[in-house]
Amino acid sequence: MAKRLRIAVQKSGRLSEISLSLLEECGIKLKNNGKGTLLASASNFPLDILYLRDDDIPQYVEDGTADLGILGENVVAESGVIVKTLKKLDFGRCRLSLAVPRNVDYQDLNWFNGKRIATSYPNLLKKFMVENHIKAEVHTISGSVEIAPNIGLADAICDLVSSGSTLLSNGLKEVEILFKSEAVMVANQNIDAAGLQILNKLLFRLDAVMTAKNNKYIILNAPNESVSGIISVLPGIKSPTVVPLAAKGWSAIHSVLNEEQFWDVIDDLKSKGAQGILVIPIEKMIV
Ligand code: PRP
Ligand code: ZN
Repeated sequence: MAKRLRIAVQKSGRLSEISLSLLEECGIKLKNNGKGTLLASASNFPLDILYLRDDDIPQYVEDGTADLGILGENVVAESGVIVKTLKKLDFGRCRLSLAVPRNVDYQDLNWFNGKRIATSYPNLLKKFMVENHIKAEVHTISGSVEIAPNIGLADAICDLVSSGSTLLSNGLKEVEILFKSEAVMVANQNIDAAGLQILNKLLFRLDAVMTAKNNKYIILNAPNESVSGIISVLPGIKSPTVVPLAAKGWSAIHSVLNEEQFWDVIDDLKSKGAQGILVIPIEKMIV
């Protein structure tokens, strides 16, 4: 049978949907992908998808039951497994933070000495406490950590914060950040040569999709005398394309702009005489 790779993704939670749409954007089509499925296969790429609780993914990848995994760096770090981190995926950003009841007059880390902290991240928390010479009692609980202070189970919590709304609605405030995280792709350390060939194809597609997401295609019109001024503020992959318009004395300029430079450059362009600026998403980009 031809070699296939198996990738573990979160079954349900913050990362599940985006993980799957990323694979889809890489042109990977899934068959038998109904609700309750544990394993789905791609019909047009040698890849199978294994749906797991995110906390279980590190172990599956370390022992090779899955070759690859998409999960938060926080889960990898907490698990302490040995896997290869191949790529940051630019979604699922969050932080592991210490939070205390809103009415606490918090000054510094010393506050935590002698306190009880509830968390699902005991390993990362204990490491942080050692590094910062804090002596607190760590209570490991597996879910709904944020309610622990309200029910008298703990004085503080150490949990993931993304938007901050969970803390807010439980009367807590974030006071220290231990760890910043985003979704990553990890791999088992012993993927064989045939597997690596598939992996490289997948990584190539991921790069194309992610680069495209960070860039926009831009088209604008300008009188010929403004063209050189406009080009000077446009980066472009190599250099911008300039084509004459049907209207005499006018040109269209095409280029690619990075998301981060975007608004600054748009202002510059307008002041240098650009008109009719169109900004278009790019689906795939191979540089
Ligand atoms: C985290 C965390 C909070 C929530 C914070 O859970 O435990 O409940 O997200 O997000 P917010 O700041 O946007 O409110 P997550 O969805 O990662 O689930 P899990 O820990 O069970 O995997
Ligand atoms: Zn989890």
